[in-house]
Amino acid sequence: MQQIDLNGKTILVTGSAGFIGSNLVKRLMKDVKDATIIGIDNMNDYYDVALKDFRLKEIESLNAQSPTIRYHFIKGDIADKATIDGLFEQYKPQVVVNLAAQAGVRYSITNPDAYIQSNLIGFYNILEACRNWPVEHLVYASSSSVYGSNKKVPYSTDDKVDNPVSLYAATKKSNELMAHAYSKLYNIPSTGLRFFTVYGPAGRPDMAYFGFTNKLVKGDTIQIFNFGNCMRDFTFVDDIVEGVVRIMQGAPEKKQGEDGLPLPPYAVYNIGNNNPENLLNFVDILQQELIRAKVLPEDYDFDAHKQLVPMQPGDVPTTYADTSALERDFGFKPSTSLRDGLRAFAEWYAGFYK
Ligand SMILES: NC(=O)c1ccc[n+]([C@@H]2O[C@H](COP(=O)([O-])OP(=O)(O)OC[C@H]3O[C@@H](n4cnc5c(N)ncnc54)[C@H](O)[C@@H]3O)[C@@H](O)[C@H]2O)c1
Repeated sequence: MQQIDLNGKTILVTGSAGFIGSNLVKRLMKDVKDATIIGIDNMNDYYDVALKDFRLKEIESLNAQSPTIRYHFIKGDIADKATIDGLFEQYKPQVVVNLAAQAGVRYSITNPDAYIQSNLIGFYNILEACRNWPVEHLVYASSSSVYGSNKKVPYSTDDKVDNPVSLYAATKKSNELMAHAYSKLYNIPSTGLRFFTVYGPAGRPDMAYFGFTNKLVKGDTIQIFNFGNCMRDFTFVDDIVEGVVRIMQGAPEKKQGEDGLPLPPYAVYNIGNNNPENLLNFVDILQQELIRAKVLPEDYDFDAHKQLVPMQPGDVPTTYADTSALERDFGFKPSTSLRDGLRAFAEWYAGFYK
C-alpha cells in the first residue's frame, strides 16, 4: 500500500453538500493541516435543499475557524465535462473522493435519467480528469446494493456481484468496472467503497429512519417493508467518515505485471457495521430515542401508525458487510451502536425542526 500524507494536499470532494460528503469535509477541516479542500455539488432538489444549505453552512463556520485550510465550494455538475476539466486544470487535486451521485434505489425506477447522468457520465468525467491530471488516489462511493439478492452472508468483496436488482446498483457496479479499466490503462490508484445503509444527523430524508420520523411527527402511518423481516447493516456516518479518511491515506500500490504493463492499482472495500439489525428492532430504538429527544410525546401510539407491507421492487431482504479486509488493511471496523447513532440523529432532528 502507498501511504499518502493528506497534510498540505489539494483534496477534491464531490457531493460535498451531501450527507456523507459534508461530514467528510468537516472531518478533513478538523484533522488535516495546510490543505486545500475543494467541494463541488450541484445542489439538486432530489430531497429538501434546506438540508444541503444547512450542511454547507456548518462547513463554512468550521472553515472560518481553520486558519490553515483553504476551502473552495463550487456549485456545479460533475456530468458537465467542461466544469470538471476546468476544476482539475485549475486546482490539480492530488486526492479525489467522488461521492456525488444520484442515490436511492426506489427513485431509480421512476427517474432513471438522473442515474445515467450523475453516476455514469459524471463518474466518467472524473475518471477522464484523473487521467489527464494524474492523482495520487481516487476514492469513490460504490454501494452495498451491488450485492443484489446474493444469498451468502456476510457479503464479501470476493463474492460475485453480477446480478444487480436496480438501475442504481447497476450504475455503482459499473463505476467499479470503469475504475478498474482506468486503473489498468492509466495506472490510476483507485479504491471503491461499498457503503452499507448510512444514517446519522442531517442525513437523507429519503432513507427509512428519516422518512419514518417525518411521518410519525405528522401523524401519518409508516410502512415497514417485507413485513419487517429485513436485516440491515446500519452504519453510523462517523464510522463511514473514519473509514474513508483512513482509506484516502492508503492507495493501492502501483506494480508492474509480467508483461511489463502496469497491474491495476485497484481495490474495493466494504464499509458496514458487520452487525445486521432487524428493521423492527431498529424502529423500536428509533421510537424510544424520538421520545427521549422530545420529538414525539411519551404517550405516542406507535402501533396505530405502523403498517407491515410486502417487499418493494429493487429492495433486498438482507445487507451484511464482511469487513475483514478493512480491518486487515486499515485496522478499523465501524462500531457505533444503534442506540448511540439514533440518539445523535433524534437530538439533531429535535434542534433542526424545532
Ligand atoms: N447513504 C447511504 O446509505 C449510502 C449507501 C451506499 C452508497 N452511498 C453512496 O455514497 C455517496 C454519498 O451518498 P449520500 O448518502 O451522502 O447522498 P447525498 O444525496 O446526500 O449526497 C450526494 C450529493 O451529490 C450531489 N450530486 C448528485 N448528483 C450530482 C452531480 N451530477 N454533480 C454534482 N453533485 C451532484 C447531491 O446534490 C448531493 O448533495 C453516493 O455516491 C451514494 O450513492 C450512500
